[in-house]
Amino acid sequence: MPVTFEEVSHEFHPGRPLFRPISCSFAAGTITGVVGPSGCGKSTLLAIAAGMIRPSVGTVTRSGDRCVWVFQNPHGVARRSALDHVSLPLVAAGRRRRDADLDAERLLTDFGLADRADVPFSALSGGEAQRLMLARAVAAAPELLLVDEPTAQLDRPMAAHVNTVIARLATAGAAVVIATHDADTRRACDEVIRLEGPR
Ligand SMILES: Nc1ncnc2c1ncn2[C@@H]1O[C@H](COP(=O)(O)OP(=O)(O)OP(=O)(O)O)[C@@H](O)[C@H]1O
Ligand SMILES: [Mg+2]
Repeated sequence: MPVTFEEVSHEFHPGRPLFRPISCSFAAGTITGVVGPSGCGKSTLLAIAAGMIRPSVGTVTRSGDRCVWVFQNPHGVARRSALDHVSLPLVAAGRRRRDADLDAERLLTDFGLADRADVPFSALSGGEAQRLMLARAVAAAPELLLVDEPTAQLDRPMAAHVNTVIARLATAGAAVVIATHDADTRRACDEVIRLEGPR
């Protein structure tokens, strides 16, 4: 089990927990959706799962160590090509440059970016950059994949496409956790955690 939460919540201000304590496991090969209104603590929950925030309430147990986070706002290296962004994690994992580039091209195609391979990151649209970050996350083959609002910037057909690719990633064995407002993304999830205010 990559990550287990026991009665976890978080207070940025003492005495004001963001949400009622939650207990859950993010298992390999499953997709968990985290839903709730803006400001309810979805991104905070991802940060807790990543080990970036130590929760002020409850216990987190983590076994795997390969964790990739796809941010709400995509960040890349301005002058590097789209292809480089996807092939570098493969090279870092020990693949030869040529093989890595071939795999990266396949991933770019999966995410509808085949014709953007040679374009520098700075020239991509917001939605293209978001999809590129997903393709790079897949290339890194994480045990835990945290995705923050993957479809917020996409039109419906591309959002549907991205939801399909995310589902495929979980079958490859990652524990996927997605913060989302998108009803279609939610339907692609095996489990849904609804964050509720502390009342
Ligand atoms: N480092 C911080 N210090 C203090 N308060 C914070 C910090 N980070 C987030 N918050 C507050 O905690 C609450 C939850 O933030 P979070 O980013 O987790 O919400 P969210 O559910 O992801 O929202 P959205 O749907 O808008 O992305 C917000 O009210 C936010 O202002
Ligand atoms: Mg958020």
